[in-house]
Amino acid sequence: MADPQPIVRHALPAAHWPTADAAARSRLFSPVQLGPVRASSRTWVPAMVPWRASDDGFVTPDVLDWYGRFADGRPGVLVVEATGIRDVPSGPLLRASHDRFVPGLRDLVARVRERSGGETRLLLQILDFLAIRRRPEKAKFFARFLSITRRHHDAVRERFGAAAAGDEAGVRARLATCDDDALRTILTPREFRDYAFGFREEVNDLHLPHIRDLPRVLPGLFADAAARARQAGFDGVELHFAHAYTMASFLSRTNVRDDGYGGSATGRRRLPLEVFAAVRARVGDDWCVGTRYLGDEVIAGGSRLDDAIEHGVAFARAGFDFLSISKGGKFDDARQPHVGEAAYPYTGPSGHECMPTVRSDERGPFGRNVPLAAAIRAAVRQAGCTTPIVTAGGICDFAQAEAILQRGDADLVAAARQSLADPDWWRKMRLGRGGEVRRCIFTNYCEGLDQRHKQVTCQLWDRDFAAPDAATVPRSSDGKRRLLPPPWQP
Ligand SMILES: Cc1cc2nc3c(=O)[nH]c(=O)nc-3n(C[C@H](O)[C@H](O)[C@H](O)COP(=O)(O)O)c2cc1C
Ligand code: SF4
Repeated sequence: MADPQPIVRHALPAAHWPTADAAARSRLFSPVQLGPVRASSRTWVPAMVPWRASDDGFVTPDVLDWYGRFADGRPGVLVVEATGIRDVPSGPLLRASHDRFVPGLRDLVARVRERSGGETRLLLQILDFLAIRRRPEKAKFFARFLSITRRHHDAVRERFGAAAAGDEAGVRARLATCDDDALRTILTPREFRDYAFGFREEVNDLHLPHIRDLPRVLPGLFADAAARARQAGFDGVELHFAHAYTMASFLSRTNVRDDGYGGSATGRRRLPLEVFAAVRARVGDDWCVGTRYLGDEVIAGGSRLDDAIEHGVAFARAGFDFLSISKGGKFDDARQPHVGEAAYPYTGPSGHECMPTVRSDERGPFGRNVPLAAAIRAAVRQAGCTTPIVTAGGICDFAQAEAILQRGDADLVAAARQSLADPDWWRKMRLGRGGEVRRCIFTNYCEGLDQRHKQVTCQLWDRDFAAPDAATVPRSSDGKRRLLPPPWQP
């Protein structure tokens, strides 16, 4: 993960835990309506991919254990990880892309209902993503992947003489001998990116028929997946319009499609609104449909807060039941991957904004993204809509969360890594036992595992040597790490 400049190592904020009485009187532990769904508190565990699904996208016993453990903490809302809507091999990511996935998802719902005593409302985050390939070996790229054009012939002729540029094989061989500085001048920016980072599809690739067809295909795919989530018993869906994925790319200012689905903010919002309309038409008004999208992409040429405010007002008017505001997490500024690896959207500056660490700039990671949610909320309220707004990013303390709500910066507070470090932390606070909270240290060991597609765990879990289940707890494939947090007795 790249660090923003200037780098300051921040200490964790002092903890302020409530008594049970203070918790009962707090806004944090007061109910809130998400459209037709009532959450018992304003506490939210946002989506986190744990890499525990089967290779063909099914719910496994490890998935059930993972969500059951989060449900123990009884958050008001628990969002299940990004789940694919296309029936194509996607590795160990959950899928809702066919009816065969419904029974497993139903088991997941049952597990969360049971472990939360029926308290936690459960949403499924559904997403579409475009193809991305691994960074190729140089020789292979020039021998096989690059489509040779006149431009390449001309560049080789100029550098190596007419004989070298005669046939395609010769051009490929010569290009493979050029260093990166030369290649930057010979290749188009997109070709250079394919070579240096690996090929990645974009919503702007209208020359590819399946990309041109996205507006025709995606509303139905999202609607089908949402209907399956409803069949499985979820309380609603979160349409994933954030980070590096297809729908966020449609919303982005970098979307220059000229087919009515890009360019102006209205054009860029058109497909997200059509997806929402299709989902709503399929699942009805009595079921929760919200979205997670970006308050700021934090990339050159990308959407900033002004865009996000406009999108938020339009989403609220369209009837979304909540807006969950995230930030960054883009491929555009990701670090160059090693050969044989794919780019990962949380390695650049925008990645840091998405999951900020204690190594940060002066502002630090704690509640860093709240101002985005606050500005979007103010505009949505000004437009006469009551749509609840969710904020996330470095939230890890009661007083901090309560102040966000009291100020009216957001209606619900989400905590991903703090809930990973200690899923019981919500319940501990509510019971006046905040002193027992295992506090996240925000150094992103978990995110590093996610990046390598390894089973996500928290480094703090393994430091509890006295945990009573140490001998029996399931362990990661290499046997070294606990797959679940130590138990806690309420
Ligand atoms: C391991 C891991 C996996 C994540 N997976 C998702 C995901 O599937 N969908 C999503 O919208 N955000 C995902 N996130 C981002 C979090 O939901 C959250 O926005 C981010 O971690 C910042 O919140 P925090 O400071 O409370 O951790 C993930 C984060 C982590 C650490
Ligand atoms: S691994 Fe580190 S950053 Fe992740 S949840 Fe645990 S303490 Fe927090």
